[in-house]
Amino acid sequence: MKSLSFKNGDALPVIGLGTWKAKPGEVGEALLEALELGYRHIDCAAIYKNEKEIGMALRQAFKAGIVQREELFITSKLWNSAHLPEDVAPSCERTLKDLQLDYLDLYLMHWPVALRPEIGLDFPEKPEDFLSPDEAPIASTWQAMEKLVDEGKCRHIGVSNFNQSSIESLLRGCRIRPEVNQIELHPYLPQKELVKFCQSESILLTAYSPLGSRDRGSRKDSEPNLFELEAVREIAEAHGKSPAQILLAWHVNRGVSAIPKSTNKDRLWQNLQAAEIELSDQEMTLLSEVREHHRYIGGDVWGMSGSPYSLDKLWGR
Ligand code: A2P
Repeated sequence: MKSLSFKNGDALPVIGLGTWKAKPGEVGEALLEALELGYRHIDCAAIYKNEKEIGMALRQAFKAGIVQREELFITSKLWNSAHLPEDVAPSCERTLKDLQLDYLDLYLMHWPVALRPEIGLDFPEKPEDFLSPDEAPIASTWQAMEKLVDEGKCRHIGVSNFNQSSIESLLRGCRIRPEVNQIELHPYLPQKELVKFCQSESILLTAYSPLGSRDRGSRKDSEPNLFELEAVREIAEAHGKSPAQILLAWHVNRGVSAIPKSTNKDRLWQNLQAAEIELSDQEMTLLSEVREHHRYIGGDVWGMSGSPYSLDKLWGR
């Protein structure tokens, strides 16, 4: 499997298994199937509420000799309600316990948004449920994440849903640089400038929702369907591949890793194989120049009226 390289030589396989929306009762089996098929990069998060089942499947895989821990690249993410420095290590510990691991390959700050831990909610219901950037500065959360690297709990740390200016301010004060930014990317949202900026700063990119996350509860019937994009269909036909494979190959051909979610064996295999597809410059341009723009994961809840965060600032508009 092709991979992107970290400065210390560690490898991030270009296709990883996405576990967001993978249901309890399904995710463990899907993970075992994925490992058998050759997946070595697994993307998790505390907020997906399925890390325990993933941990049980990992343990089973190690025991059965399907794969060794050292062969895997496992990511998890710090949720917004654990941004206060004293909450960072306990959150990481909980994830490690649930995943039944001693260390993570990568720990990401899930969003540049903080929630009050004492409300006991995963998502805010009112503006008072937020901690403002002054109450929970990103730099302080980051310092606590840096300590996790010092202690050997995480090999790398990074961010998710960060725009250029939030990365720039983090870079100004950090001791350990963020090494990955995980963001929504697909032909409706190529984010060319942010991708270029991250690559120029040696920050690796991972694309979430590479297939448009059509299995999410918040999906609207009116939203565009990546699988039906004309350029995708034409290129898929020319290569004798599926539209999903072309969508994934586009990332790989632009030096970005992607984490498609599937719990279906055939589609897991298809998605993994997409890493081998070579697209021509012309095909890459066609996929990168789609006129229609669409962000599937709008993060609207973070920008609710009265919130100390705004969507304009979040997405850098
Ligand atoms: P399933 O899990 O039944 O395979 P995203 O990765 O953008 O969040 O998208 C996940 C959605 O895409 C899920 O509904 C998943 O369904 C579906 N999916 C995953 N791989 C493929 C594929 N190769 N072809 C079509 N749909 C796919």
